[in-house]
Amino acid sequence: MIKNDSLTFPEGFLWGGATAANQIEGAFDEGGKGLTTSDFAQYKEKVSDGADNFTFEVSSVEFDELMANGGKGDGVYPKRWGIDFYHHYKEDIALLAEMGFTTFRMSISWPRIFPTGLEAEPNEEGLAFYDAVFDELLANGIEPLVTLSHYEPPVTLTDKFNGWLSRETIEPFVRFATTCFERYKSKVKYWITFNEMNMNLVSVYTGGGVLAERSDRPLREVAFQASHHQFLASALAVKAGREILPADAMIGCMINRHQYYPLTTKPEDVYRACKDDQINLFYSDVQVRGYYPGYMLRYFDEQEINVVMEEGDDAILAEGTVDFVAFSYYMSHLSKDHPGADATAGHFVGTDKNEYLELTQWGWPIDPVGFRISLNEMWDRYQIPLYPVENGLGANDVLEEDGSVHDQYRIDYLKSHLIQLHEAIKDGVQVLGYTTWGPIDLVSCGTSQMSKRYGFIYVDQDNYGKGSLARSRKDSFFWYKDVIGSNGAALY
Ligand code: BG6
Repeated sequence: MIKNDSLTFPEGFLWGGATAANQIEGAFDEGGKGLTTSDFAQYKEKVSDGADNFTFEVSSVEFDELMANGGKGDGVYPKRWGIDFYHHYKEDIALLAEMGFTTFRMSISWPRIFPTGLEAEPNEEGLAFYDAVFDELLANGIEPLVTLSHYEPPVTLTDKFNGWLSRETIEPFVRFATTCFERYKSKVKYWITFNEMNMNLVSVYTGGGVLAERSDRPLREVAFQASHHQFLASALAVKAGREILPADAMIGCMINRHQYYPLTTKPEDVYRACKDDQINLFYSDVQVRGYYPGYMLRYFDEQEINVVMEEGDDAILAEGTVDFVAFSYYMSHLSKDHPGADATAGHFVGTDKNEYLELTQWGWPIDPVGFRISLNEMWDRYQIPLYPVENGLGANDVLEEDGSVHDQYRIDYLKSHLIQLHEAIKDGVQVLGYTTWGPIDLVSCGTSQMSKRYGFIYVDQDNYGKGSLARSRKDSFFWYKDVIGSNGAALY
């Protein structure tokens, strides 16, 4: 525990930023890489800035057409080019090092290692690419934090099995995970099995590579069935990792955390907030405790959701519990009791506006105190280290003629959240580090836009992939450098 009047973060606190392969790498058909479900996600011009602009889904018809044409289609697919990190990684890592990063979160694109997911042997060129990236990071004093699955399953698994809806996807994932552990065990200490498994409740295509129209089961059931298979795959990977990795390696789960508040003091609204929180935390509950919580079994029963489980699944879950809980934190929501609320529990986008909170340009409520509340509640619940691995502000930036970007709004956002994180640490919460989302501008997950920028580093590229790809330092770059250099003292 650190002192209440301490101006700095604990010694050894990891400072950095977070990315995902499908949002930065590009080179979607180079180095022997197969296609991933994110390569099929389109940017659609009708997308506007605002709360309701997600373009997560790919329809069964679109998917089949792309598959039949070897991935060629008429759409705009920004996740195929990302920000071309594949060819710029040295320059990008040098910029992160200049800010003083001590950690960098990234994912390994599964079809770069197993192009269809079904090969017996991995693709050496893909493995060598990540060796080069890890070596570059380590040479710059940056500890990699690696997500094995961040919305990047090979499309073949969707085509053949309907992705994570099928148990058959478990075995290829465990082979992929085991291959990565074996190959990188001397370079990577911190691992996350799945990014935000609770994405399945928002988009089962993005979260689980599942084409819901191909199943005659209700959508909610499809999402929880896919999640069950991911729980098993994650637990099996953790078990394998414990055998392969050095004793000081840590493997975590990761959820998209949303803090829920009751809309009023009416006890039924308070209960609704408790329930919404439970459904949000269900994903970490299973992975930390190793079993399904009672509240969820009752929910399945009442909603007539039939998740098919096999004998032995309980033991697999119990044997594969995680060492830390990573999470993204972007916003809080209001919960209110109403008929049918149970059936929509867990949805991210709320309808009621909290009058005390400002919204981002994309309509996301800004709530730094909610961050502190979440940290405290999760620590109280789990008593294992927490790791906020995504937090940040997506905004339209203006590049000035001299290459500067005056993003004081981003500094204000991050500063207010970091101060609350610091308060939580002083409350006694154990936190491994903090990685902002998108330290370098990248393609948005939810809207496939380039214009929704999170970075300290500006990348000259538009929503259609046009631009010089030149990197430049925003005002926030120099601010974050000072924060890291002072181990937090520059916040005050
Ligand atoms: C998280 C995802 O949910 O939110 C990231 O893990 C994503 O992949 C981030 O980019 C921000 O969302 P968006 O839609 O603004 O890119």
